[in-house]
Amino acid sequence: MKKLTEIITNIVEGVFAQCNYSPKYGLVTLSNRPDLCQFQCNGALAAAKEYKRAPIAIATEIASLLKNHPDIKEVSCAMPGFINITLEDQFIVGYINNMITADKFGCEEIGDNKTIIVDYGGPNVAKPLHVGHLRTAIIGESIKRIGKFLGYKMLGDIHLGDWGLQIGLIIAEFKHRSPDLIYFDESYNGDYPVEAPFNITELEEIYPAASSYAKSNPDFMEEAKQSTFLFQNGHRGYVALWKHILNVSINDLKKNYANLNVYFDLWKKESDAQPYIPKMIEDLKNKGFAYLSDGALVVDVKDDSDTKDIPPCILVKSDGATLYSTTDLATIIERTELYNPDEIIYIVDKRQELHFEQVFRCAKKTNLISPNTKLTFLGFGTMNGKDGKPFKTRDGGVMRLEHLIKEVSDKVYQRVTENREIPQEEAKEISRKVGLATLKYSDLSNQISKDYMFDVDRFTSAEGNTGPYIIYTVVRINSILNKISKVKPWYKAEAASGQLPYSENERSLMLKITQFSEVIVNSFVDYSPHKICQFIYELSNDFNRFYQENKIISEQNPTKQNSWISLISLSRDILVTCLDLIGIEVPNRM
Ligand code: ARG
Repeated sequence: MKKLTEIITNIVEGVFAQCNYSPKYGLVTLSNRPDLCQFQCNGALAAAKEYKRAPIAIATEIASLLKNHPDIKEVSCAMPGFINITLEDQFIVGYINNMITADKFGCEEIGDNKTIIVDYGGPNVAKPLHVGHLRTAIIGESIKRIGKFLGYKMLGDIHLGDWGLQIGLIIAEFKHRSPDLIYFDESYNGDYPVEAPFNITELEEIYPAASSYAKSNPDFMEEAKQSTFLFQNGHRGYVALWKHILNVSINDLKKNYANLNVYFDLWKKESDAQPYIPKMIEDLKNKGFAYLSDGALVVDVKDDSDTKDIPPCILVKSDGATLYSTTDLATIIERTELYNPDEIIYIVDKRQELHFEQVFRCAKKTNLISPNTKLTFLGFGTMNGKDGKPFKTRDGGVMRLEHLIKEVSDKVYQRVTENREIPQEEAKEISRKVGLATLKYSDLSNQISKDYMFDVDRFTSAEGNTGPYIIYTVVRINSILNKISKVKPWYKAEAASGQLPYSENERSLMLKITQFSEVIVNSFVDYSPHKICQFIYELSNDFNRFYQENKIISEQNPTKQNSWISLISLSRDILVTCLDLIGIEVPNRM
């Protein structure tokens, strides 16, 4: 289905053409003065320059013809040359009735099956997930879901960090603790046990211990580096340990992400890109892109037009080690070979912006990737506590993700069980869903690149622009529909057809609903899930105003009631769909 603004734009374009102006001036947008009109066209202002006429004269001319259009109820002009448009109710209702029967409420599938890889999550194995991992998970999952809805082939890739010093640290620490383990026996050449010699709890204790020990102990750090070098170069025992670390860690990560309602299509790892490195380096040297600078192999990525300094992209350090950028470049080659994507979107802390700038420039300049493949960096800001500083535990430590989730759902539990009887199991399930909704909505309702403040009290409230408020609205609609179906069990919402609105509030709710496909498309094209949040907040407000004004359940006129039922069912379905697109599940009650 065409977007509503597109349909009206086409009408206005036609009138511009009819009056011998270029149709390009007919663009119609939502009105920014809803008190005056529903839509507006500002084209007369621009046309005035080209045709050397007063804008208001052009606007008046267009308006006088537009008035005759059967779908348009009112047209007026405002100085200096705005055209204000209000539609016939019949037309709005017709559009809504089409939305009800259309697939995906008539949303255009702009994706055309193009492949987009979303690189998000990005945890490092053997380290517990902490607050810093939350935003990439939430944003990435949402971008992936919106893209899928729009008909893109979206591949979410967790891109695990499994190739760095953290592995060497763990191996070195193990060697100190259990030197007799078979993995450290250099003369052993049999098979290694299938079972890991540790579980996740032990693993998560080992890494921080080793890491802090290494900071104060240079010898141990040297050992860890040596172990890193050895496992990366195929030392049998160390490789076996590394595989154990991966298995134990991945099993645990899968559980943790599932708890967040976050699912990856690909569980690729930095190590998977390593086989692509030698040939890549050879090629870049042969083609003259890579050269030695102070012993390191680098590619210049600075542009003449740059105002800031962009340091060269380093491929190999002077000690022979490859870096984060080397792995990311090789990953681009790997992804191109395996999935041939049209775009790769990276959702990473914005402090890594320079790294990606270098990698993208290097990949494009050296033709590692086709010029048609888009590389997009979506850098996100920090989630701060009420004090405006990065979210921490009470004693100032890094907060583990599961603790944060627990803190929020405990708060919701408190609210849910306040002054009422509710089975404990159900209260827990509600708190889990609403707790996650709280976190996700407060994150996604902000622009991705901005820092934002997370205030548990404010965001768990069911009032205001919060996740719980939106969920509450859905639950409220469900409860109205349930009550009606008890009185009228024969009733089927989908059989009802919408009537003309009976009030201004009802009309506003309808108009809001018509924005659905425009909002979804824009939220994806602009990488802005916050537009979906804004939309469902406004839709919820419109619904609640409509609900305050009307007694839907006890309405005696069956035509009116049926029409309302169909309208609120559609409102509910759209809210639920939007919530799903931002990764939020709705409980049966609240
Ligand atoms: N593991 C990285 C980190 O902890 C994030 C990975 C982001 N993705 C990427 N392709 N570099 O910072």
